[in-house]
Amino acid sequence: MLKWLFGQKTDGASGGNGGGGNGATPKKPAPVVLNLTPETVVDAVLEQMSTTPDPRMRQIQESAVRHLHAFAREVNLTPGEWLQGIEFMTKVGKICTPERQEFILLSDTVGLSALVNLMHDKTALEIATDTSLLGPFFRENPPRYPPGGQICKDISKGELAIYGRVMDAKGNPLAGAEVGIWQTASDGLYDIQSMPNGEMDARGVFTTDAGGNYLLRTVMPLDYSIPMDGPVGAMVRMQKRHGMRPAHLHFLISAPGQRELVTALYMSDSNYLATDTVFGSSSVDLVADPITNDPNCPLKGIPAVRYDFKLSRMSEADMKGGRVGSDPGAILKN
Ligand code: BEZ
Ligand code: FE
Repeated sequence: MLKWLFGQKTDGASGGNGGGGNGATPKKPAPVVLNLTPETVVDAVLEQMSTTPDPRMRQIQESAVRHLHAFAREVNLTPGEWLQGIEFMTKVGKICTPERQEFILLSDTVGLSALVNLMHDKTALEIATDTSLLGPFFRENPPRYPPGGQICKDISKGELAIYGRVMDAKGNPLAGAEVGIWQTASDGLYDIQSMPNGEMDARGVFTTDAGGNYLLRTVMPLDYSIPMDGPVGAMVRMQKRHGMRPAHLHFLISAPGQRELVTALYMSDSNYLATDTVFGSSSVDLVADPITNDPNCPLKGIPAVRYDFKLSRMSEADMKGGRVGSDPGAILKN
């Protein structure tokens, strides 16, 4: 179409009487234009973007454009549908705050976060505990507790003990490792959701002893819904999904020289293990089954989960690769 239009203009400029080339006016060369079809527009874009100096950036951006174009062609995207997508992404951006990262939630609900984590696991130097989503409720600088400390203010519905060891990939205990835990409190909510004044609850950090042992008290986590009051919730509802996550405990475990482990333990009796809305419960190795009278647990009279965590040696790439997941507060700082 464009070519046809420009072609007409060229012909006009060369005489206007339909003849042209009669010797009176020298013939102008035809203007060079983008000669685009739905199939070739992608190459025109890639050609312009090929000047991106950073090779990794270039690779990522080129691939994203190629796939975006292929997607639009595959579904024959209409202008109205394209605008709907733009409106959706605008709503996702508008609802983001330092406490709420709707883009991460979007990434989670379409399985992109899980995919990135699964690929990251494969780059570990050694076989370690599987990772799981950091999720949007991680917070920096939680309170520190001594061994056996209770991280929840309300224990009226019963307690849960968690204990075990933190080891390197060969099974050697890691003394002085930090075991961070966060979860829903007994009301089924994270502190960020129920305590708007910034108070912390149901989260803490413990340090392993000389034998790599950790021991903590908490409450039983509950199945709970991802935040459904924003555009991602609307999308999940429109897709007729339940929006639930299986009951889980988050862990962030670190030790000098070891790859940081971001993981979670999922409760075996949850109704949503196989249909987690954010695809975090993807490993059977991360399913925990609390035992009522565990003779080996140092804390008596409460159900207990024993779990040993294994860390992989840190690689050079790990040092600059970033955390598996992200602290929403850190994103807006940059
Ligand atoms: C969570 O672990 O709590 C979570 C993870 C992803 C999205 C929403 C919640
Ligand atoms: Fe969570």
